[in-house]
Amino acid sequence: MLSQIFVCLSRGFAVRLPGGGRDEIWVRGNVRLSGREDSLAELGLILSGCSAECTGRVVLLEGPPASGKTTILTTAVRLAAKTGALAFNASCAPAERDLPFGVLNQIFLSNQLPADVKEHGNRIISDVVLNMRSSGQGAGGGAGRQLALACHEISGILVQLASSSPVMIAVDNASQADEQSKSCLLYLMRRIEAARMLVVLSDEVAR
Ligand SMILES: Nc1ncnc2c1ncn2[C@@H]1O[C@H](COP(=O)(O)OP(=O)(O)OP(=O)(O)O)[C@@H](O)[C@H]1O
Ligand SMILES: [Mg+2]
Repeated sequence: MLSQIFVCLSRGFAVRLPGGGRDEIWVRGNVRLSGREDSLAELGLILSGCSAECTGRVVLLEGPPASGKTTILTTAVRLAAKTGALAFNASCAPAERDLPFGVLNQIFLSNQLPADVKEHGNRIISDVVLNMRSSGQGAGGGAGRQLALACHEISGILVQLASSSPVMIAVDNASQADEQSKSCLLYLMRRIEAARMLVVLSDEVAR
C-alpha cells in the first residue's frame, strides 16, 4: 500500500516521491492517509505554480494497485477546491470504455460550473454522440472531423474557465478512458501552455 508513487511532470522533469512518511493526515471521515503528505503538497505546489506563472502542467500519478492513487486524487481535488480552484474529478472504468465522452461528461456534471457552461459542454457532447449514432460511424470520416471539432470546443470552454480561476482536472485510471475522452484530453493538454490549468492523470504500474 505504501509502495512508491511517481509524479512525472510534463515539460522535461520528473519527481519521484517516496512512499511512507513521518506524519499522517486525515482524508475523509475515518480514513487516515499515511505517508502521502509529500505527494499532496507537491500537487498543491504545482497547482499554485500554474496559477502564479499562468502556465499549464500535466502530472502523471502512477502506482501499483491499491497504492492510494484514487485517494490522493480525490484529496488533491478537494484541497484544490478549498484554495478557490475549479477542481474536477473524473474516473474511468473498463465497463464504460465504450461510452463516448463518458469521462469528459463527468466534468460537465459538476455543480461548480455555471449552468450555461454545463449546458454548453453537455450539448457539444450529446451532438457528437448523436451524430456518431445516426451515421453508424466510429471516429473515422465525417465523425472524425466532428470529434475534432468537439475536442476543440470543449477544450476552449475549459481553457476559458482557467482565465477566471485556476483549474485542476483529475482523471483516475486514465488509460481506461473511452477513446473520445482520451482524444479530448490529449487535445486539451496540447493547448494549456498558457492556461492556469493542472491536469493530473493516474494510472496503474505493475508492482
Ligand atoms: N497512504 C495510505 N494510508 C492509508 N490508507 C491508504 C493509503 N493509500 C491507500 N489507502 C487505502 O487503501 C485503499 C486503496 O486505496 P486507493 O483506492 O486510493 O488505491 P488505488 O491505488 O487507487 O487502488 P486501485 O489500483 O485499485 O485503483 C483505500 O481504502 C485507501 O483508503
Ligand atoms: Mg484507484
